[in-house]
Amino acid sequence: MVVYLDHAATTPMLPDAILAYADALGVVGNPASIHSQGQAAKRMLEEAREKIAATLGCDPIEVVLTSGGTEAVNLAIKGIWWSRNRGAPKPVILAPGGEHHATIDTLEWLEQHEGAEIGWLPLDDDGLVRPDEVKAALERYGDRVALVTLLWANNEVGTIQPVTEIAALAATSGVPVHVDAVAAYGYLDIDFRAVRDASGSSGGAGLVAMSVSAHKIGGPVGVGALVLSRSASIEPLLHGGGQQRRVRSGTQDVAGAVSFAVAAAFTTGHRADEAVRLAALRDRLIDGILTAVPSARLNGPAGGGRLPGNVHVAFAGCEGDSLLFLLDMAGVSVSTGSACQAGIPEPSHVLRAMGRTELEARGALRVTLGHTTSDSDIDALLAALPGAYAQASRAGLSDRTTKLGA
Ligand SMILES: Cc1ncc(COP(=O)(O)O)c(C=O)c1O
Repeated sequence: MVVYLDHAATTPMLPDAILAYADALGVVGNPASIHSQGQAAKRMLEEAREKIAATLGCDPIEVVLTSGGTEAVNLAIKGIWWSRNRGAPKPVILAPGGEHHATIDTLEWLEQHEGAEIGWLPLDDDGLVRPDEVKAALERYGDRVALVTLLWANNEVGTIQPVTEIAALAATSGVPVHVDAVAAYGYLDIDFRAVRDASGSSGGAGLVAMSVSAHKIGGPVGVGALVLSRSASIEPLLHGGGQQRRVRSGTQDVAGAVSFAVAAAFTTGHRADEAVRLAALRDRLIDGILTAVPSARLNGPAGGGRLPGNVHVAFAGCEGDSLLFLLDMAGVSVSTGSACQAGIPEPSHVLRAMGRTELEARGALRVTLGHTTSDSDIDALLAALPGAYAQASRAGLSDRTTKLGA
């Protein structure tokens, strides 16, 4: 039996989302076509968009369907930055350290190719972006700030960010905000309109854009959305047929949207109860790990400040990758949470941004729970962990090559 505890990487598709996907793939018709088959496809697409919008607290017209979270993040950051730099230069993008690579690499690209300046915001010990730091940076850079971008919840250590407070500060300064809600969607109540209202966002200032992805909530890979406020100003990345408010050209993926909508409706419909169930499993797992390995340390906040399905632990004196491989051999799939560049494990940039040493950042393991997780999965991990930890500790940290046979 394989125990899958890597739901933040991708979560199994929901059976109804698979059925809806397969059915919709059999439908012929480009939603831009005038004939009745095209119009039937368009109706399916627009009904799906309505359902997706209802789960995000926005109007259907504000849902720009994309090929996933990465494209949504690229579109938001590059598109808003270009739009804001049409007139007087506003080179600065404020972003916390420890963002997902979809953001970091986009920022670095803009820096290298377009002359953007990145104002990195510090994370505290728990991975939290502090609103006073955002306020200070907005004041320091003044009218040179193009936008603020941040994660709603950190995909690695699970820290939930004070999005409304930060959006309110940006709104006061007339600055647009993009939120990457990929890791939060399906686990937290991410209501775009509610945050806009509560933060005093209006027009193109405050929260204007939010990225989500279908495969993190039981929908298909390769489908996502950027929620883009009507009043936001953005330059498109893709040019072509002018679909989706001319923001995202390209023939629209009806089957992907239909399947995404089924997953979104199911997941957000069960979200509140599921969050309670997962938080209980998460806390039992954290207690079990800290009892089995007393030197282990929980990264990120405990309790309500973290995603209900996220456990991220630092193990002293061993490589996270050794633990990962040993647990895999025991039939348990987990992650280190950090990027693996061309097969070479890197110490987590999120933990580094939280002030951990490289050594501390190397022994990290991320366990993420989701809709298929049950008590028996937690038991299986807790049973396999002591042996895996003992063996990984013997292999130690001596070099970057894992020594599983040691
Ligand atoms: C926080 C976050 N942003 C963006 C992405 C990218 O989404 P996608 O895999 O749909 O491109 C991910 C996926 O891991 C993520 O966790």
